[in-house]
Formats: sequence, C-alpha cells, structure tokens
Amino acid sequence: MAIESFGTERAARKLRLGMVGGGRGAFIGAVHRMAARLDDKWDIVAGALSADAKNARASAADLGIVEDRAYTSWEEMAEKEGAREDGIDAVSIVTPNHLHFGPAKAFLENGINVICDKPMTLNLGEARELEQIVDKSGLVFVLTQNNTGYPLVRQARAMVADGTLGDIQVIRTSYVQDWLTTALDQEGQKQAAWRTDPKLAGGGGSIGDIGVHAFNLAAFISGLELDEVCADLRSYVDGRQLDDNANVLLRYKGGASGNLWTSQVAPGNYNRLSIGIYGTKGGLEWVGEDNDNLYYTPFGEPTRCITRGGPGAMDVANAGTRMPPRHPEGYIEGFGNIYANAAEMIWARKDNRKPDPFATDLPTVGDGVRGLEFIEACVTSSKNGGVWTKLEG
Ligand SMILES: NC(=O)c1ccc[n+]([C@@H]2O[C@H](COP(=O)([O-])OP(=O)(O)OC[C@H]3O[C@@H](n4cnc5c(N)ncnc54)[C@H](O)[C@@H]3O)[C@@H](O)[C@H]2O)c1
Repeated sequence: MAIESFGTERAARKLRLGMVGGGRGAFIGAVHRMAARLDDKWDIVAGALSADAKNARASAADLGIVEDRAYTSWEEMAEKEGAREDGIDAVSIVTPNHLHFGPAKAFLENGINVICDKPMTLNLGEARELEQIVDKSGLVFVLTQNNTGYPLVRQARAMVADGTLGDIQVIRTSYVQDWLTTALDQEGQKQAAWRTDPKLAGGGGSIGDIGVHAFNLAAFISGLELDEVCADLRSYVDGRQLDDNANVLLRYKGGASGNLWTSQVAPGNYNRLSIGIYGTKGGLEWVGEDNDNLYYTPFGEPTRCITRGGPGAMDVANAGTRMPPRHPEGYIEGFGNIYANAAEMIWARKDNRKPDPFATDLPTVGDGVRGLEFIEACVTSSKNGGVWTKLEG
C-alpha cells in the first residue's frame, strides 16, 4: 500500500460519494453508507434518494446533504454533479433493479465512477450494453456482490487458486430466507412488492434477488466458469408472479458439478448463505452467519477452523480485517471492504498508478453480465420443463 503524505490530494480530502435511492424507509442504501463511512475514505455529499420528491429532500437533510445537492431526479443529479468542480467522485446506485441501467449509464456518461447493487440490470441485454458503456468510459465500475468482501471468502478463493484443494469436483451453495413465506408482497410491503414484480425485478424472483449471490460466491471462490444449468423455479404463494424457490443443478466448464438452492419461503432461515467446495485434496465450507470462520478439511485429516485474524489466516484475508480474532466482524465490514477497495481503485486511476493488489479483486461489470446470464439461463431452463440450458457466454 502506498504511504500517504500531506500535500497530496488524497491526503487533503476524502472521496465524494453520491447516492441514488436509499432514502427513508429503504433497506440497502443505509448499509452502503455505513460501509462507505467505515474506513474514513468517503464523504456523502449528494443524493437523489427517493422516487418521492418530499422524501428525497427530507432524507438528504437527515444525512447533512446541502440543499443544492439534494436532488429530486437522478438525471439532474448526473448532469449537475458531472459539471461541478467539486462534483462527486462516485455514485452508489441502490434503487430497485429496473433503475440500475439508466442511472449507471447517465453517471458514467457524465464522467462519474459507479458503484451499483446487484443484479446489475433488469435483463441481459441491458447488462451487455452497460458493459460496453463502462469499457468505453474507462471509469471504475463496482458491483456490490458484497459477499466477495468477506476476508475468509477471499481466503477461500486464494486457497482454491493455490491448489490447496486439488482439482475442484463438487460445489454446493445455497442462499435461503423465509420472509416471503406469506403474501407480504400483496399486502403493500414495499421491498416485497417490487421484488415480485417482473417489470421492476426482472425475470427472476428469488433466483435474481439472492440466487445471484450464491452463483457469484461459487464463481468467485472456485474461479470456475458455469457452463449450463438445469433449473426448477417455483412460486408457492398464490398470485405471486416470480419464483420464491429454486433448485438448480450446475455443470461447470472443466467437469466440476454442483447444486444451488435458493428460497424465500423456508421458515427458520432468516438469511442463510452457505457454500461447500470440494476438490481432490480437500474441502472448504463457509456460512455467512458464521463469516469469521472458514472450515478446511485436508482429505483424511481432521477439520480445521480458520478464524479471521487468527493463525492460518492469509495476507489476502488480513488485508480486509480490522479487529483481532473473535472480536466479531460481519456484514457491514465485508461491505466496507468493497467500499475501501473501490476508493483505492478510484485514487489509483486519478494518480495514474497501479492499485494495491488486494483492492483489485472487486466484482465489476463482467461479473454483472455473468449474473444476468445465470438468471436468464435458470428462467429459460425452468420454463422449458427443467432442461439443461447453456449460459449465453
Ligand atoms: N448486496 C446486497 O446484499 C443487497 C441487499 C438488499 C438489496 N440489494 C439490492 O439493492 C437494490 C435496492 O434494494 P432495497 O431492498 O434497498 O430496496 P428498497 O425498496 O428498500 O429501496 C429502494 C430505494 O430506491 C428509491 N427509488 C425508487 N425509484 C427511484 C428514483 N426514480 N429515484 C431515486 N430513488 C428511487 C426508493 O424510493 C427507495 O428509497 C436492489 O437492486 C436490490 O437487489 C442488494
């Protein structure tokens, strides 16, 4: 990591962050803000925080955003921030899925780096178009597949890459919740309503909302490319338009196979993300709710528990660690690593230098395209009766 010194722009100021979505009553915007604040690298200075003008302004006031940067439209915000001397360095896009592509395009076209939540866009067509826009812009684009920010997920990836597990043969992953077990979406609950509306969420319900996290986690750790899927998507609540449960078989290029289960109707599972990855020499298991521990079994030996910050933790994990072992870290800190790394990528671009290597493993627009390829292949496979369907790579 470069040593900072007074007199540089980097020492004189934090990066300026704007946000689209995330006003009062929203879920993930507040998480992004906590993550951004965690390492003193960002100031939140502008926002178009809500679809509702009154809420947008009130929410901006809550955050201490000055009046002329409390926008009521993201189009206006992209234009005005792009034109300001002290304009934002990046925007976080935390709106429902149908409002990712438009804002991302507008901010990139105004010279502003983008941090966008998943799934990257409403459909694969938009994802591919956005990839071209990002490439043309040369700007930093970060996709908050935030689970890649956990230190021990990064260690798992490094252990697979250095051959500790041998050749990967089997992957099982799941992301299961229970909050849509009843017809919450038909009772006016905002987050449930847009997630089950194909015009706002896209073609996938649970598969697009959380299945894409499990897919991304498996891809990130294994480094393998998913070739085809055989999916059974179902909805268990009358009148619900999108899937709330999916069972998917996976075939990877190179011969590994696996399965992915995603559900939002599995009582007792509040938010359970988990993965097991098994090779010719050993296996790894990790669960989001127990994210400070990684379980490693060399074949034929007892299982070892590697704890964040403890013995056996690798440099790649320690780089994203703030607290000593057993001082619990979690969701916000993992998210915070994405924001800290995004800041480093943006400063490196400004300073025309190579970024810290630990900051470069961020999910970006290509991962977003792969996510949409996965979602759409699952939807197609299931619609056709559960036939093996290739990802449109
Ligand atoms: N990475 C993760 O773990 C994670 C977790 C939850 C949600 N998400 C993703 O984050 C996004 C938002 O999800 P959420 O649960 O926070 O939704 P939400 O409904 O709680 O919040 C959406 C926000 O967008 C605002 N909005 C809508 N239209 C707007 C417009 N035209 N201009 C400005 N703001 C507008 C709404 O007013 C609201 O503030 C989704 O894409 C979702 O998939 C990611």
